[in-house]
Amino acid sequence: MDESSATEPERAPDPEPAPGPEPTPDPEPVDARDGVIATRALTKRYRGGQLAVDGLDLTVPTGSVFGFLGPNGSGKTTTIRMLMGLIEPTSGAARVLGHPMPRAARAVLPHVGALIEGPALYGFLSGRDNLLRYDAADPVADPRTRRTRVAAALDRVGLTAAAGKKAKAYSLGMKQRLGLAAALLQPRRLLVLDEPTNGLDPQGMREIRSLVRELASDGTTVFLSSHLLDEIEQVCTHVAVMAQGRLITQGPVAELAAGTRGRLVVTTPDPGEAARVLKEQGVGDVVIAEDQVTGEPPERDLAEVNAALVAAGVRVRGFTVERASLEDAFVALTGEGFDVAG
Ligand SMILES: Nc1ncnc2c1ncn2[C@@H]1O[C@H](COP(=O)(O)OP(=O)(O)OP(=O)(O)O)[C@@H](O)[C@H]1O
Ligand SMILES: [Mg+2]
Repeated sequence: MDESSATEPERAPDPEPAPGPEPTPDPEPVDARDGVIATRALTKRYRGGQLAVDGLDLTVPTGSVFGFLGPNGSGKTTTIRMLMGLIEPTSGAARVLGHPMPRAARAVLPHVGALIEGPALYGFLSGRDNLLRYDAADPVADPRTRRTRVAAALDRVGLTAAAGKKAKAYSLGMKQRLGLAAALLQPRRLLVLDEPTNGLDPQGMREIRSLVRELASDGTTVFLSSHLLDEIEQVCTHVAVMAQGRLITQGPVAELAAGTRGRLVVTTPDPGEAARVLKEQGVGDVVIAEDQVTGEPPERDLAEVNAALVAAGVRVRGFTVERASLEDAFVALTGEGFDVAG
C-alpha cells in the first residue's frame, strides 16, 4: 500500500440494509473441529491472469495463534481479503467461525477484528475520533459504552498520549497501532491481523507481540500474517507457510522446526583439517567461516564424529548442533531462500 497517500477509507460504506429483520448473528461454528478458519481449494486469479492463491486448504484451530508466513507476494493478503469477504474467490470455499464467506459476512464479521494492510483512516480526524466514528458505523456496538471502549483500545495499543493528534500526522507505526485499536473495540472471537508489526520500531513490535499473547490467553484466536520468521517463531503456536500462492506446510510451530535438522557447528583453530575430517565422517555441505566449520549432521553418532576430530589432532573448542530455525525449515521445504517470486 502506498503509505504517503491520503488516508481515506478505500471501501464504500455498506449499502442500507434491506427492509425486514436483520439476520440474527450466529457466532457458533457449525463444527468446531473444522477450526475457526477453514478453506478448501481456495483460489484467486486476479483479472490480468495473476494466480495469487492456488488451491489453499487451511485449517486454523480454535484458540491458536496462527502465523501465516510467506515472502512478499506469496498470497497472504489476497487470502485474508477472501476470508474477510472483501473479494470473491475465483473458486473453492472459505468458512470463518463455521460460516461460508463471503455469504455470511454480516453474521460473522461482528465477531472478527481485522487489520488489513494499512488501516483506512480519516486523516483530518484525530486518532480518537477515527475510532469513535469507526465504532459508530458498527451496528452491534453499544453507543453507551463507546467512549470507554475507545479509551481502553487506545490504551491497549499505547496511543493514549497521541489520541488527540490528527491521523494524517501519525507515523506508519502509529497508524498501524490505531488500526489494531479499531480491531480491539469489541471482544472478538477471532482477530485477523495482516502484518501487524509492519512499520513498528523494535519496541513497538515487542508491545504488539505481547498484546497478541495476552489476547490469545483471553481465548481469542489470532490469525496473523508475517514475512518475518522470527516473529512467527516468537509468538505463534501454529504456522502455515506459503510460497507463490501455494501452501507448503501447516501445523504446530514446534513440529515444523523439529522436523528439520539443525546444522553441526565445530569451532576450532584448525578449520581446514576439521573440514576434511568432517567430510570423511559423512557430514554434508561443509562450510568454513573463520574458526567455525558447519555442515549437515550425518546419521551416525555425533560422539564418534567428535572423537574422529580429536584423533586427527583437530583442536576442538566447540561442538554443537544448532536448533533448526523456521528459516531452515522454510528453506528445507521450498529448496529456496525467503525471496520474492517474480
Ligand atoms: N489487485 C490485484 N490485482 C492483480 N494482482 C494482484 C492484486 N493484488 C495482489 N496481486 C498479486 O497477487 C500476488 C499475491 O499478492 P498478495 O498481496 O496477496 O501477497 P502478500 O503475500 O500479501 O505479499 P506482502 O508480503 O508483500 O504483503 C502478487 O503476485 C501480487 O502482485
Ligand atoms: Mg500482504
